[in-house]
Amino acid sequence: MLEIKDLYWSLPGGEPIINGISCKTKGRLTVITGPNGGGKTTLAKLIAGVEKPTSGQILFDGEDITDLDITDRANKGVAYAFQQPVRFKGLTVRDLLELAADGSLDHTALCDLLGKVGLCADEYIDREMSGALSGGEAKRIEIATVLARNAKLSVFDEPEAGIDLWSFSRLVETFEEIRNNSQGELIVISHQERILQIADDIIVVADGKIRISGSREEILPALLQGEYTCACPRRMGEKK
Ligand SMILES: Nc1ncnc2c1ncn2[C@@H]1O[C@H](COP(=O)(O)OP(=O)(O)OP(=O)(O)O)[C@@H](O)[C@H]1O
Ligand SMILES: [Mg+2]
Repeated sequence: MLEIKDLYWSLPGGEPIINGISCKTKGRLTVITGPNGGGKTTLAKLIAGVEKPTSGQILFDGEDITDLDITDRANKGVAYAFQQPVRFKGLTVRDLLELAADGSLDHTALCDLLGKVGLCADEYIDREMSGALSGGEAKRIEIATVLARNAKLSVFDEPEAGIDLWSFSRLVETFEEIRNNSQGELIVISHQERILQIADDIIVVADGKIRISGSREEILPALLQGEYTCACPRRMGEKK
């Protein structure tokens, strides 16, 4: 379980980006959504330890991890898939998946992992995770590496970005399988209704704050009617 207490983060020049976020995950799948530029990726980077907060605390399973770096947090069981996938020249897809799984993977395991993101293992395992892969291929392989970690908490930043409809359907099924069958917890940043529909809880982040949060049943109907998503801070408190 992740708990965030009064989290702030500002740019080096002092411009505030995250303005006092406090929340606690309850269900197995929490979806963070909200308008572009609202602070979702920044919040995910603070959770993963890519950025350090200006103030506030992050607790994971009750332990304060605020001062731990990305590697230490990974060792504690926090895995993070970037909005823009990272390329690693010289490493093959198999290398990356085995590094993530922390051991060798047989053909069946590789097929299973890549199948979860709609890729055929035979076509990809020996390819380099380089610029030669298409955007959607790289994105799906990065998601597969996070799935391979089988972490206690996996954070996915816009997994839908650049992914075709068929692979996206497979990915939604995969998130549902994880939610229903594994011990791991998922935080998924997404603008997609199909992902919102499988959430246990939804957090709407805008203007660096939580605009509203609650169970899917509480939040989704109004969200689908266009509430809470205005990027303009002056109007954030208003209902239409
Ligand atoms: N390193 C940085 N330098 C300058 N501005 C930044 C930096 N990181 C974040 N920002 C700004 O902070 C705000 C929040 O950015 P963030 O990427 O967290 O938004 P987001 O909610 O993930 O948006 P999107 O839905 O488009 O992915 C934006 O206005 C962005 O320009
Ligand atoms: Mg983002």
